[in-house]
Amino acid sequence: MAKKKVVVTGGAGFIGGNFVQYMVNKYPDYDIYNLDLLTYAGDLTKHKEIETNDNYHFIKADIADREAIMNHFEKEKFDYVIHFAAESHVDRSITDPEIFIKTNVLGTQVLLDAAKQIGVTKFLHVSTDEVYGELDFDPSQFFTEETPLQPNSPYSASKASSDLLVRAYHETYGLPINITRCSNNYGPYHFPEKLIPLTISRVLNNESVPVYGDGKNIRDWLHVYDHCSAIDLVLHNGVDGEVYNVGGHNERTNLEVVKTIISTLGKSEDLIEFVEDRLGHDKRYAIDPTKLEELGWKPAYNFETGIAQTIEWYLENKDWWKHILSGEYQEYFEKQYSFKK
Ligand code: NAD
Ligand code: TYD
Repeated sequence: MAKKKVVVTGGAGFIGGNFVQYMVNKYPDYDIYNLDLLTYAGDLTKHKEIETNDNYHFIKADIADREAIMNHFEKEKFDYVIHFAAESHVDRSITDPEIFIKTNVLGTQVLLDAAKQIGVTKFLHVSTDEVYGELDFDPSQFFTEETPLQPNSPYSASKASSDLLVRAYHETYGLPINITRCSNNYGPYHFPEKLIPLTISRVLNNESVPVYGDGKNIRDWLHVYDHCSAIDLVLHNGVDGEVYNVGGHNERTNLEVVKTIISTLGKSEDLIEFVEDRLGHDKRYAIDPTKLEELGWKPAYNFETGIAQTIEWYLENKDWWKHILSGEYQEYFEKQYSFKK
């Protein structure tokens, strides 16, 4: 039987990168194609250990480049599309929304057209809980798959738009799809512009940690390996056309997250620096994962075990993140944080 061909868009980024490694190792009988433009957020050094595997392939392409994407899809005739590629940072979407529309909305539509053209077995769209907007601090409230989409940032609006296009291609053309909406991820290879790796890298350098507003905003954290196992399950067992929320009930305030990292690394809380709040800062995210659990998913990590593993990984892989901190990132950091406080 011919090997299944799986294209993972955004497979040089944080979650897509972890997923590519998971799939290459777990399914030697699948051919895994990492399709990525290699923006500031993508790097291939993370794939050193798998890049010579027979079942790993890399394609450099822009998902918004219709001609290139059509050609790759026609040539390879992929069975599965797992779509991670996106502009993913809320703060960048506030300063420069346009690229978020191009990549996240137009790019998704190009991929849908290509998937429809060659008749894929499944198009799995990786989305986010941020499309639901925000919850208030009432701990009995959770996002379910039925919660209306009310995105608040240009990033979440672009993701919600892409979710609706994926739904429409299913309803209109019968394209086989699933949509997953996951809570905040953390773990190895997380780009140090996001809260957890930013905190770990700055604390290790004895630099201040910028906490927006009063630090009481709540996020629901999931280790990236648990997100990978959820996507694997939905890919193989998800009911056609369904949306699945992914989350492990690990709600923490930002201040709790930062303090946990500081104390694990044995540093002082004096490193915390409260800075001007993010515009339109969502108060709280919290996922009800019942539907996915009923499909058979169970996370392996809780926040305590996951954050310990992650801190350990950043201690052991300083070369990876120090290399990133030395590049374009410096300019970004100065621009992003200079106006605060
Ligand atoms: P990331 O920013 O780390 O990686 C994005 C990847 O996409 C990079 O490798 C980049 O080079 C690539 N890319 C960007 N534009 C491209 C284009 N035009 N063509 C081809 N490749 C392009 O993102 P991430 O944090 O790994 O998130 C991956 C996906 O998961 C996104 O769709 C995001 O919305 C979703 N998600 C993220 C989280 C989170 O906590 N990070 C949570 C839930 C869902
Ligand atoms: P982030 O990692 O950017 O993820 P998202 O905005 O997608 O949830 O931010 C997580 C939380 O941490 C969010 O409430 C904003 C806050 N935050 C800070 O307080 N300081 C920072 O420097 C950053 C990047 C985020």
